[in-house]
Amino acid sequence: MRDYRHFLKTVLIDEQTLQARIRELGEEISRDYQGKDLHLLCILRGGVMFLTDLMRQIQVPHSIDFMAISSYGVGARQSSGQVRLTLDLRDDIQGRDVLLVEDIIDSGHTISNVLALLAVRKPASLKVCTLLDKAERREVDVPIDYCGFRIADEFVFGYGLDLDEYYRNLPFVGVVDLEQFQPPE
Ligand code: IMP
Ligand code: MG
Repeated sequence: MRDYRHFLKTVLIDEQTLQARIRELGEEISRDYQGKDLHLLCILRGGVMFLTDLMRQIQVPHSIDFMAISSYGVGARQSSGQVRLTLDLRDDIQGRDVLLVEDIIDSGHTISNVLALLAVRKPASLKVCTLLDKAERREVDVPIDYCGFRIADEFVFGYGLDLDEYYRNLPFVGVVDLEQFQPPE
């Protein structure tokens, strides 16, 4: 895999800006969940960086769990909606105050399917925290309770988000120059 600098169009959100916003989100969540039984759920793998930074900024006691899904997509960069659980949660969420931590909401299909799947397990509450929101791409309405940044319709990578599974480690969110990433054949 090539160095990301070959196809990084721009740094959209730099590390400092990300961390400052995550600190604010953590403060907001800490206020809202005082006295509650907060349980953070992360969908592997994109949300991992965000989860681990966010939880360090949350001052109320909480637990975490992970799930993985695969979506029957139109292509690697588009999702059609149907999701299948490939790794289920370890713990029961019944009666718990569940906060779903996501990297990005695009069409909204993934998150709305996951919410439906979790709701039947009867959590006390079920909310959504996403780092990025590509609002103009939305195809289904999803309630977003906490949002880091609204971004334009561009393909982004870094900070948990991958390009064909690579570059999740970058500490910033960058816009990819798709022509440079996948030169036309
Ligand atoms: P949705 O079902 O269309 O909302 O898609 C959400 C999922 O698509 C996210 O969890 C990501 O895995 C992926 N995704 C959407 N946009 C991007 C992007 O710009 N970069 C990387 N992954 C993305
Ligand atoms: Mg994801």
